[in-house]
Amino acid sequence: MPFDVAAEVLSNRALSSDYNVLALAAPAIAAASKPGQFVMLKAGTGMDPLLRRPFSVFEILRSGDGTPTGITVLSKRIGPSTSLIYSARPGQVAAVLGPLGRPFSLVEPPADAWMVAGGVGLAPFATLAEALRARKVKTTLFYGARRGDELFYLDFFRTLGVELVLTTEDGSSGERGRVVAPLDRQLAARKPDAPVMIYACGPEGMLAATAKTAAKHSRPCQVSVERIMGCGMGGCYSCVVPMRGDDGKFHHVRSCMAGPVLAADQIRWD
Ligand SMILES: Cc1cc2nc3c(=O)[nH]c(=O)nc-3n(C[C@H](O)[C@H](O)[C@H](O)COP(=O)(O)OP(=O)(O)OC[C@H]3O[C@@H](n4cnc5c(N)ncnc54)[C@H](O)[C@@H]3O)c2cc1C
Ligand code: FES
Repeated sequence: MPFDVAAEVLSNRALSSDYNVLALAAPAIAAASKPGQFVMLKAGTGMDPLLRRPFSVFEILRSGDGTPTGITVLSKRIGPSTSLIYSARPGQVAAVLGPLGRPFSLVEPPADAWMVAGGVGLAPFATLAEALRARKVKTTLFYGARRGDELFYLDFFRTLGVELVLTTEDGSSGERGRVVAPLDRQLAARKPDAPVMIYACGPEGMLAATAKTAAKHSRPCQVSVERIMGCGMGGCYSCVVPMRGDDGKFHHVRSCMAGPVLAADQIRWD
């Protein structure tokens, strides 16, 4: 069962004029969270906006002895809720419900893990990279952003031993272009008998392109979809995704319950 807590804001670090990392005191949620799960969050106690919004659990905070004490979220400011998160101050209270949804399925060696992130889609991969490292899985992060100054936490991933493949749309860091291009090349160069699991999170167009690329190379792919979510608990049907069922036909599933992590080859991408 998820926990519904009034969590104190511990810190709020601006990474840029749009991105920030909000740290929240939420020990029960931190202890229960698995990579890929999310929380429904609203900073402050006002009525506007009325509804909480979904955010991936970015990091698990721990005390000196390793006990989980809280979580962080990586937020990109795009509207009212993310503006409140951007301007939240330590000592304020945030309403946090979680952990919610189905996490990523973890692979084991000899399989490698290739994580594909677009922009704020980086968020679920910090905890995933830690979990994969604990299993000694060789992990690569393909990470694309608009500009080099929107590529965050690179040292965090390097410290975990994650190989980085960076792209920017303006060419200011890494390869110029979209992140799926180096993914496609590296999949083409990989021996067919070398297993790899692709994990992707980002804008829907990027997810669709990643799914298509994975299918082209006959590789399994798990995507974390970002649908608009009203409740996060199966009650409002705002988050449906068309998925192929056991009968071969497409059915709408609630991505807050069946996902947000879904098998890319079962989704109808249109
Ligand atoms: C499972 C899940 C995990 C997420 N994790 C993160 C995260 O870690 N960090 C982060 O910054 N964001 C994340 N998001 C997206 C985040 O929930 C939205 O950015 C947020 O709801 C925007 O709220 P707002 O009030 O600021 O803007 P709104 O006014 O609600 O939205 C501004 C504009 O963006 C559109 N929009 C809102 N939500 C989405 C969405 N999910 N997909 C596409 N368009 C949308 C709206 O239609 C509107 O046009 C996640 C979404 C999901 C479903
Ligand atoms: S967000 Fe309400 S049903 Fe999924």
